[in-house]
Amino acid sequence: MAYFSNKLAFITGGSSGIGLATANLLAAQGCSLVLFARGQKMLDDACKTIKTKMDSTSQKVNAVSMDVADNNDVREKIKVAVEKFGIPDLLINSAGVGCGNYFENISYEQFDRLMKINVYGTRNTISAILPLMKQKGGGHIVNLSSVAGHIGMYGYSLYCTSKYAIVGFSECLRSELKRFKINVTLVCPPEVKTPFVEEEAKTLPPEARVVKNLAGLLTPEQAAQAIVRGITRKKFLVVPGLMAKSLLFWHRISNGAFTRRPGDIIVKFASWKLGKY
Ligand SMILES: NC(=O)c1ccc[n+]([C@@H]2O[C@H](COP(=O)([O-])OP(=O)(O)OC[C@H]3O[C@@H](n4cnc5c(N)ncnc54)[C@H](OP(=O)(O)O)[C@@H]3O)[C@@H](O)[C@H]2O)c1
Repeated sequence: MAYFSNKLAFITGGSSGIGLATANLLAAQGCSLVLFARGQKMLDDACKTIKTKMDSTSQKVNAVSMDVADNNDVREKIKVAVEKFGIPDLLINSAGVGCGNYFENISYEQFDRLMKINVYGTRNTISAILPLMKQKGGGHIVNLSSVAGHIGMYGYSLYCTSKYAIVGFSECLRSELKRFKINVTLVCPPEVKTPFVEEEAKTLPPEARVVKNLAGLLTPEQAAQAIVRGITRKKFLVVPGLMAKSLLFWHRISNGAFTRRPGDIIVKFASWKLGKY
């Protein structure tokens, strides 16, 4: 697809899951990439895989170890990356961590850490790149939220808080950046089969597991296809998957009534099966 030829994308969280699948797809469509994450080994492995997908010798993939939660690290690493590789046309904020647990089991430190990665991390990279995109005369910012950024779910008090913040942040940016020809895309996937889900499962309450099944499960490749399609169509809201789309549709038109009530019934039934009632 010509749309991504000669374009450069910076992808945080590009070493795994949705970020990596999106990087693979963009590489196959002519885009050059710089991946950002903390773990160097996974970044190097991702670069090797991505190189096999590239169809032109002019395309490049590079990796930079960076902690999105650390604003100084972000400023420094983005500056160096831009000097070396250029100003990106596309910034994809996919770095993120999950948390499924009862609110009372979540410490202040855990709450703080997740917010620093999921919310401040997105803020930090955008803040570092935005002036450069404006200088370049345009660009596209893609933020990963979730279905959990629109529907408050049992066992997700911390994660939902972070993803609701990304929805509000993206809505405001969309409006503010339009006149600078910078598009904003907000991506709200349901559950996607990545290492994130395996990590989350360690503390996920069983009732939350049952509720989560309502939105469906996608592969990272399915999520990536929806993201790439959304970018080319300059869509603001991208909800990958039919089940997630219809869940959000009913949630919105009923002002939450069509999702809260069935959700409560499912939680009650699951709790009863667990002997909690
Ligand atoms: N999987 C799902 O079910 C699902 C559903 C809806 C939305 N999402 C969202 O989609 C995004 C990607 O999730 P995923 O499923 O692809 O997760 P994943 O496979 O666990 O990948 C997460 C990526 O983020 C990086 N990362 C984590 N903390 C970071 C930090 N402090 N600084 C820089 N990089 C960091 C990880 O690398 P390092 O650990 O090496 O840094 C990794 O590359 C997240 O924002 C998530 O909230 C996921």
